Amino acid sequence: MNVADVFKNNEQWITDKLAINPDYFTELAKGQTPEFLYIGCSDSRVTAEDLMGIKPGEAFVHRNVANLVNNVDLNVMTVLNYSVRHLKVKHVVVCGHYNCGGVKAAMQPADMGILNPWLRNIRDVYRTHKDELNAIEDEGKRYDRLVELNVQEQCVNLLKTAAIQQAITERGLTVHGWVFDIRTGKLIDLKLDFKAVLKDIKEIYDLY
Ligand code: CO
Repeated sequence: MNVADVFKNNEQWITDKLAINPDYFTELAKGQTPEFLYIGCSDSRVTAEDLMGIKPGEAFVHRNVANLVNNVDLNVMTVLNYSVRHLKVKHVVVCGHYNCGGVKAAMQPADMGILNPWLRNIRDVYRTHKDELNAIEDEGKRYDRLVELNVQEQCVNLLKTAAIQQAITERGLTVHGWVFDIRTGKLIDLKLDFKAVLKDIKEIYDLY
């Protein structure tokens, strides 16, 4: 794939869209009312729209290395507040994936320069769940489990924000933790019970 191909593909894409609906882009330009906020990994193999089978306009998307929801990351917090408070999405999804390079890197004892503070978030997830993780002898299974626990903890980070607390209370917004199994293509719902989590953390993190 070279750059010229990208522009050729774009022309073809426009032709295909207009053949189905001549007003396609006129309608797209009017505005957006997505029902999903999707927070996923930047990994080139994990494309939100493709794996969910959704069209332009249906999901607000934020991707970073290892799908982190960090409290002081102005980028993710802006995406979150804009989509929850203004676009009023109904579902917020954190989607991790097996074979995640960011999670793998956080499992290595190495100095990775500028990546250190980012990966620290994942090391903190490991520390929080150290007993469970260290009890898993198989390294591959431990790696998979850390991917899942990282999704869970990023969902907890969502629940610590005022925007999410308000939207859950006032209009029944739901938070979902998913993992994309890159080895099979399957999307797995971790079925996390956030009612219990929210009750537990609100003692300290009650902002709303
Ligand atoms: Co990844």
